Amino acid sequence: MNEMQIRKGIEKDARQIAAVLASFYSMNLEEAKRTFLEEIRKGDYYIVAEENGGIIGLTTWSMHGLPKHRLAELHRIVLLPESRGKGRGRALFSALKKDADKEYGKYGLKLRKLYLLTHAGNKAAHAFYERVGFRHEAILRSHYHKAEDEWVFSMFFVKSRRPCGTQKKNNLF
Ligand SMILES: CC(C)(COP(=O)(O)OP(=O)(O)OC[C@H]1O[C@@H](n2cnc3c(N)ncnc32)[C@H](O)[C@@H]1OP(=O)(O)O)[C@@H](O)C(=O)NCCC(=O)NCCS
Repeated sequence: MNEMQIRKGIEKDARQIAAVLASFYSMNLEEAKRTFLEEIRKGDYYIVAEENGGIIGLTTWSMHGLPKHRLAELHRIVLLPESRGKGRGRALFSALKKDADKEYGKYGLKLRKLYLLTHAGNKAAHAFYERVGFRHEAILRSHYHKAEDEWVFSMFFVKSRRPCGTQKKNNLF
């Protein structure tokens, strides 16, 4: 078996990326391909894991607000079922963090907060997120679907939390 390679996902990966997305998210291959192309065109960062010339997993993220807010969202992380549970998810997550540091570095900044939304019922994902360092921050009721809440998980990289009401007013926007 070749070693796993982690690299940026590009347009010519569309077919394989669609297969990985469709293996977990509720979309068919056509929808998954369209989703990928739309997301990279709007600036989402796609990072793929490849083994033996095939894409076996991916993670995606985007900057939120302005760069100076130093806030990013992890949108997706998924491995093909046979590739799970062997450390590849953690490796993808480390690559995402490195990529975010590189992108914020272009502005002379560092990532401050990374967050994500995950279905309340996806307890396996919650366990994974907690193992890699996220903390459960909030619940968004009936968010994507009436019948399911989303859990917000967050990770802070800079200890800068202030008590409510003490935030500097001149540097928010
Ligand atoms: C979530 C996912 C990306 C994790 O990747 P993975 O390769 O299976 O996870 P890893 O093997 O890298 O595990 C990293 C750590 O999380 C822990 N972990 C992973 N899955 C776990 C589970 N179901 N229960 C408890 N701990 C778990 C591992 O024990 C490991 O801990 P350690 O490194 O401290 O020993 C993968 O399982 C997956 O594709 N799941 C389906 C898609 C999904 O649910 N995505 C999230 C959508 S919000």
